Amino acid sequence: MKCRKCGGLAAVELRRHNAAFCPPDFIAFFRNQVSEAVRRHRMFTREESVLVAVSGGKDSLGLWDVLLDQGYMTTGLYLDLGIYDYSKESRAKCEAFAAHRGAPLLVVSVEEAVGAPIPGVQAATRRPTCSACGLSKRYLMNKAALDYGFPVVATGHNLDDEAAALFGSILHWQAEPLARQSPALPSTHPKLVRRVKPLYRLSELETAAYAFLRGIDYIVEECPFAKGATSLMHKEILNRLEEASPGAKHNFLYGFLEKGRPAFERMSAVALNECARCGQVTTGTLCGFCKLADQVKRSR
Ligand code: AMP
Ligand code: FES
Ligand code: ZN
Repeated sequence: MKCRKCGGLAAVELRRHNAAFCPPDFIAFFRNQVSEAVRRHRMFTREESVLVAVSGGKDSLGLWDVLLDQGYMTTGLYLDLGIYDYSKESRAKCEAFAAHRGAPLLVVSVEEAVGAPIPGVQAATRRPTCSACGLSKRYLMNKAALDYGFPVVATGHNLDDEAAALFGSILHWQAEPLARQSPALPSTHPKLVRRVKPLYRLSELETAAYAFLRGIDYIVEECPFAKGATSLMHKEILNRLEEASPGAKHNFLYGFLEKGRPAFERMSAVALNECARCGQVTTGTLCGFCKLADQVKRSR
């Protein structure tokens, strides 16, 4: 296999692009895809400070690596979920990366914010772990951005994550998540910062190849609660489609963003209020996170 750019020996094959690249040209391709995402969706400018949510995994550390190299003003945000050794190890990866790159990293403890680490929240609420965890992560990312004055939060969601989320929402025709599924969510309220996903054009295999070629030390293990998650099943199904017809995932997601999402966006216009307790945005009186904290408190 020859590199599409220089004709040298290729190391990474991208069937959906009908191309292969040598390591330096793959790295350039990867960075171009991030630039294209940032440009197309006007995610952020060089004058803005971007809060990059890092989990210690290949995607978010790879994203931070690209943004640092491109000269963006970035700060990392690690949310300590308190999930046993998994959290200790992922935090150490983020701290080591930040120290190596001389980049600032904020660490926020879920336990301090909600009253218990994620396994304790799960026991107190009997909600599926990933749902309480996802709610806490979204809330704390927004809160950290507001507290420290960042206008935008970037996450490492990749093409596979986005296609699987879309697939899940379509299976149940969940109009709200479909309206919100986007590589760039604007701020629709002064207490809601913009959320962007600059890796949405890159697959999980591509982010893994990038992290490997860049020598990024990331946590390989999945969260112990992820086993059996439906999102993993959806990823498997999409991978089988992709195997049979390269580009299927890409077409599925991009087609929705272009043709499907505008219709869902028009349908759903929810009124946003400020939570009576914490002041963050909610559709009700008390936000989901404050309700979660109440449940944890009652169970103790
Ligand atoms: P996940 O929901 O685990 O697939 O992660 C999706 C994205 O959310 C990651 O790429 C990160 O940007 C962000 N994220 C996940 N876990 C954390 C964490 N513990 N701290 C900060 N950001 C996180
Ligand atoms: Fe939240 Fe696994 S990372 S439950
Ligand atoms: Zn609240």
